[in-house]
Amino acid sequence: MGFHLGDTAPDFTAMTTDGEITFPDWQGDSWVVFYSHPADFTPVCTTELGRTAALMSEFSARNTKPIALSIDPIEDHHAWAPDIGEVTGTALNFPIVADPDRAIAQLYDMIHPGEGDTSTVRSVFVIDPEHKIRLMLTYPKSVGRNFDEIVRVIDALQATDRDPIATPADWRPGDRVIVSLAMSTEDAKERFDNVEEFKPYLRYADAP
Ligand code: BEZ
Repeated sequence: MGFHLGDTAPDFTAMTTDGEITFPDWQGDSWVVFYSHPADFTPVCTTELGRTAALMSEFSARNTKPIALSIDPIEDHHAWAPDIGEVTGTALNFPIVADPDRAIAQLYDMIHPGEGDTSTVRSVFVIDPEHKIRLMLTYPKSVGRNFDEIVRVIDALQATDRDPIATPADWRPGDRVIVSLAMSTEDAKERFDNVEEFKPYLRYADAP
């Protein structure tokens, strides 16, 4: 992959189910979940796009916009969209990018030759309002993503941006957090409630 966490997300202009967009103009000052799916009119993808649509209020509460992509043409996206609502109970309410020449898929390294054909795998990028890539996940075509996990990661990223903390394994909002290694325990006790030192390098505190 040609880019890493912290890099600026590559720009593109593309046709979507909501019309032509230019990234990052479309992004504005929001967070973005940009993900690829292998193909329209396929079962796992239908469940994933429906799940994303159902989570729209959760994304909005986190100032986050989802956007999907496949290499199918825009006509197929429009033809498939009603199926998503019919099968999952939530109509499509976010854009799907059409990338028939695979230019964006190649830019984001979403085509993995070991995964069968030249369609996109299930890549996920969380991009912050500064247009920096903050999370990259890659799932095989046969495995649908856990969108609760994607929402959880956005919560963790936003929490760790606000305060000098990290989040432990399986953290959920409201759980105790880990004090940043850059902060002394003394300073942590002034800033956070219930600081507990398990090891000099592992200090838990109540969520700020
Ligand atoms: C699916 O969405 O069901 C799917 C698409 C491509 C390969 C495998 C599964």
